[in-house]
Amino acid sequence: MDDIKKCWYKEMSVYQVWPRSFCDSNGDGIGDLRGVLSKLDYIKSLGVDAIWFSPLYKSPQKDYGYDIADYRSIQPEYGTMEDFKEVLDGAHERGLRVIMDLVINHTSDQHEWFKESLKGDDNPYHDYYFWRKGKGPFPPNNWMSTFAGPAWEYNEKLDEYYLHLFAVEQPDLNMDNPNVRREVKDIMKFWLDMGVDGFREDVITFISKREGLPSSPYWIPVATGIENYMHGPHLDEYLNEFKNDVLSKYDCMTVGEAPMMTTKSALKHITEGENQQLSMMFHFEHMAADCFIYSWFKTKFNLKKLKKVYTRWQNDLYAKAWNALYIENHDQPRIVNRYGSLKYRAESAKMLATMYICQCGTPFIYQGQEIGMTNIEIDSIDKYTDVSTKNNYNVAKKILGEKKALKLANYASRDNARTPVQWSDAKNAGFTSANEAWFCINPNYKEINVASQENDPDSILNYYRKLLKFRKENEVCIYGKYEEHYRDSDKLYVYSRHYENERMLVILSFCDKPHLFKAPDGFDLKDGECVLCNYHNPKLVDNGCLLKPYEARVYLFK
Ligand code: NOJ
Repeated sequence: MDDIKKCWYKEMSVYQVWPRSFCDSNGDGIGDLRGVLSKLDYIKSLGVDAIWFSPLYKSPQKDYGYDIADYRSIQPEYGTMEDFKEVLDGAHERGLRVIMDLVINHTSDQHEWFKESLKGDDNPYHDYYFWRKGKGPFPPNNWMSTFAGPAWEYNEKLDEYYLHLFAVEQPDLNMDNPNVRREVKDIMKFWLDMGVDGFREDVITFISKREGLPSSPYWIPVATGIENYMHGPHLDEYLNEFKNDVLSKYDCMTVGEAPMMTTKSALKHITEGENQQLSMMFHFEHMAADCFIYSWFKTKFNLKKLKKVYTRWQNDLYAKAWNALYIENHDQPRIVNRYGSLKYRAESAKMLATMYICQCGTPFIYQGQEIGMTNIEIDSIDKYTDVSTKNNYNVAKKILGEKKALKLANYASRDNARTPVQWSDAKNAGFTSANEAWFCINPNYKEINVASQENDPDSILNYYRKLLKFRKENEVCIYGKYEEHYRDSDKLYVYSRHYENERMLVILSFCDKPHLFKAPDGFDLKDGECVLCNYHNPKLVDNGCLLKPYEARVYLFK
């Protein structure tokens, strides 16, 4: 039997708060920390063990906090440092850990470092960023921003360009400068000393750029040049430095975000043992079962593609490293619209929850996911607020025309995940007492909201609670080895987990019609207990059943 090491961050589950849309306490239409404080009991009631906060720091909000102007203060719209400390204490009193978002690939152009860097190359902060001369009338190289458009911005006064892999207002930090790394380590210490329990590290695999910043021979519509900064030459060295000088001195966890990462590259950073750099990593491969790489290159949902990715990550990491599991976050459209069904919204939301939470790894749940919130239909590009949506729309418009580009935005925009949380059927979904929230509220809030699901034992919300409780109480669900069954089915996803003398079987239907299921060899369903199901009275027929649309069942064998 593989030797799997136990540890606290493997046993926890995490709730992600995107603060601007979580809960507004002061009636300005914007979510805030006192709003979070008022919902700590709710978060605890889900059965999670930690909260990850998307950035709370002072920021001009060009990328909603992922453009940080001061790493040591709180965005005034969200409250004060005192409010944050109250939230931190309140969370800890309830046994909830707190994970901060650490965005160190770039800052805001309003950060003091960047303002100083603008003063010229004799200023010590100039080398905190990538300032380069152009090539004649052209930028220093052909890299494109991941938000579309060139990755370089010209500054007339300096007659130089600066690099920004994201929005123009997000200049990239030069991590090769030891002073920048010292600043990063001081920031980490500042928050860890205050008592936070870890970091989610934003696009962490982008922080080391290839020397000389060479142009790319490949052209792609976004992120041209990515091969020169994804898993760059000094990434290992910098991650080791952060770990050895800071992280290893605290009982904390880290989860690194890594677009386009494979299991092979993940294992370099998260293989357990002395050289482990991060606790776990977010990959994106399972979010591409309905698209090519990311949601704007839409394709038809493909279950086999999804299963293949899951099985690879489950098998390649088992007993070596630990998975970070998610199906939603602030960058992804809502999952029921993508992998589930609006017709069977509740059933498919519960099935998809079962699908990923019963795998081996730490599950992350994004605000609103636990009530099955859906994408929003927005009728004009002007009502979107996200910088990448606008950029992607402009590219799409040239190819598809306005109408189709808007339809695509309705499907693919990350603004879908950023509509305010639907707390009740009251005005503005109970999110704010202001006349208007900062962003559109999904008109389906009268039907989909927390209050109505609280009282309904069959709700998605209460299903999440059952599921998380089951996971917590059953080591087989946390540590069990994964095995896939019926790999070739394009309707069913079936896998089992095995730990010591226990086994569990997870049966998931992706079909909107009844579908026949036979237990795989070695499983006698009569000997097991059906511990979770998204329908009432799950029946057996021989050693199988007729699964209802989007049915999920979990059998436990002790
Ligand atoms: C990933 C974050 O999750 C996303 O929201 C942000 O726009 C980019 N990194 C840039 O920080």
